[in-house]
Amino acid sequence: MPIVAATPEAIADAAQLVRAGGLVAMPTETVYGLAADATNGRAVAAIYATKGRPSFNPLIVHVASIDAARALAHIPPHAETLARTFWPGALTLVLEARPSNAIASLVTAGLATLAIRVPAHPVARALIAATGRPLAAPSANRSGRISPTTAAHVAEDFAADSLLILDGGACAHGLESTILACNADGTLTLLRPGAIASDAISAATGMRLTIPQSNPNIPTAPGQLASHYAPRAGVRLDAVIVHPGEALLAFGPKPLATSGPVINLSPTADLIEAAHNLFAALRTLDATGVSAIAVMPIPATGLGIAICDRLARAAAVRS
Ligand code: TXA
Ligand code: MG
Repeated sequence: MPIVAATPEAIADAAQLVRAGGLVAMPTETVYGLAADATNGRAVAAIYATKGRPSFNPLIVHVASIDAARALAHIPPHAETLARTFWPGALTLVLEARPSNAIASLVTAGLATLAIRVPAHPVARALIAATGRPLAAPSANRSGRISPTTAAHVAEDFAADSLLILDGGACAHGLESTILACNADGTLTLLRPGAIASDAISAATGMRLTIPQSNPNIPTAPGQLASHYAPRAGVRLDAVIVHPGEALLAFGPKPLATSGPVINLSPTADLIEAAHNLFAALRTLDATGVSAIAVMPIPATGLGIAICDRLARAAAVRS
């Protein structure tokens, strides 16, 4: 599991590996991704095998530009507006796929739609440019576990594998992209809250998002299963006291009293800072060996919606 600094030489080596059908872990502005050539079915199969991911859970394809996206999928006017406003960036659009595109069918798990994102991170962009291929990339964690926001997190999950990991430092957002379905009738459905708050999307474009009534057992983005992002320790939400043997994931200027391990996501109650710190904090508290992590209440507004979504999945009963 070599971690290498993402120098131009390392990116060129990684691109050669990807063109030959290999996998590379790359930094993005959201979380680290496990990237492969999206046009190579064997390479895409290796993503599923390496992650232990169910093959009914489709992947996001990363491309360099709106025009590159257009070659793969139809971009209706409302999607075009979103793409022009938020790409490159942490927004994934689910679009009607062009049936003749070169994307391996395993990427979409048989769906007629394709999830596409133009990332902003310079290393991800350089890797896309150097391979000249669309890159399929799920988060670079084992299926069901906490998404990685540093190269070391990726190495933790894939310790037994020989995976090339491009180190681009800590991810700026620390939460996965927001996923919107761009429906044929001109409406938008929020499939996954993420690094761009839905009220920011509405404010920038004047568009309304439909938020599906959540039934955690009927995933809207197919991979949005209730139990996800799971640390080994249990997770207890909306804690107002800390029990003996628990670690505390605190938020805000008044952390609960405890003699156990504590990480404060943001002492100033800043949701952007809390999102950036969330997954690393869960990993660090989990590594202390506590039986449970008590989580202080976090406001479900703005980015807090995505933070609460991830914490609810981390707390969900595991099947
Ligand atoms: O920020 C991100 O989005 C990161 C970075 C690496 O780009 N990627 C990421 O991928 O979070 P992943 O595989 O962990 O999550 C992708 C989500 C899954 O929930 C999947 O079900 C959904 O996207 N998805 C992919 N294709 C879809 C489609 N055609 N329709 C609906 N949901 C789709
Ligand atoms: Mg993931």
